[in-house]
Amino acid sequence: MKKNLNISLLPGDGIGKEISEEAIKVINWISKKFNFNIQVITESVGGDSIDKFGSPLTDETLNRLKKSEAIILGAVGGPKWEKLKFENRPERGLLKIRKELDLFANFRPALVFDSLINASSLKPEIIKDLDILIIRELTGGIYFGEPRGVEKIDKDNLRGFNTLSYTTHEIERIAKVAFETAMNRSKKLCSIDKANVLESTELWRDVVTHTSRKFPNVELSHMYVDNAAMQLVRCPKQFDVIVTTNMFGDILSDCASMLTGSLGMLPSASIGFTENGEKKAMYEPVHGSAPDIAGKGICNPLAMILSVSMMFKYSFNNQFIYELINKAVSSVLSRGFRTKDISSNGSQEISTSQMGNEVIKELENEKI
Ligand code: IPM
Ligand code: MG
Repeated sequence: MKKNLNISLLPGDGIGKEISEEAIKVINWISKKFNFNIQVITESVGGDSIDKFGSPLTDETLNRLKKSEAIILGAVGGPKWEKLKFENRPERGLLKIRKELDLFANFRPALVFDSLINASSLKPEIIKDLDILIIRELTGGIYFGEPRGVEKIDKDNLRGFNTLSYTTHEIERIAKVAFETAMNRSKKLCSIDKANVLESTELWRDVVTHTSRKFPNVELSHMYVDNAAMQLVRCPKQFDVIVTTNMFGDILSDCASMLTGSLGMLPSASIGFTENGEKKAMYEPVHGSAPDIAGKGICNPLAMILSVSMMFKYSFNNQFIYELINKAVSSVLSRGFRTKDISSNGSQEISTSQMGNEVIKELENEKI
């Protein structure tokens, strides 16, 4: 792994700032321990950028992000900016980064830590050892399709519309990433669509099936999204890798995250490639900015810390540091430390920054 790295950190809004501080602790520890020279440059996005510069993502910020080796983002959004015009809202900043950097493959693992098994609303036997990976297409589909908007039909009737569209090329590239990922796991891939109703996802099914010919060792299945939502709750362990569209992936990944007991635990990676094949990636927790608990020092920084860990694996090909951080998180949990969102009887409730400190203590304890 390269010794000199430059990373952009976008804390964003709400709890984004608090969890970013804990991410920095972990990055600094790794940097010192392994003699890296990691430059973390803090940038603005979302409401934070609106307040400072009047736009959810400035061109200058975007240009710097394009040059950085990896991006870590906290969360965007909050009631303060909800009344703004659609194109000026915090979320547009996040969507613009995804689109402009062409981060089309979004990896959302849902993994149950043994010590958190009782935090889930499902029975322990349904989720014990659960380890699934949702691969969500992130730069196409209804999120970005044109035309879109709200138009006037007559004086008391408006029409709101969005377009769900996918091209062969867009489907093929995400399918390829999904098959390659499945090859390195249990060689099972489930593609989720609504091919019985939506033409765009009928094409999705055809292209995924066609791509599967190049991966004869992967067992491919297809499922309609309504059934998949039901199956995820009924028997989630039937899945290993799931590949799906932007909107279905958004919905199903929230559902999958709750299987694990806490949205505060799940990291994600959004990956794309430049024309010369160089990887571009952004890492962010799956949870949002949680304005209701922001600033109180009680939010869970683990999804953010696990996102840092994913960065070492996916951007810097360092499986060792990835496993090191994951193990430290797992040990902190098995020692009974919990932030409020995952606390239960018998656990020790600690603050956001104490949780970060406990992860560092565990890292110190690891034999390296
Ligand atoms: C997510 C979020 C975003 C999305 C929002 C904040 C735009 O829900 O990353 O899942 O819808 O993609
Ligand atoms: Mg979402």
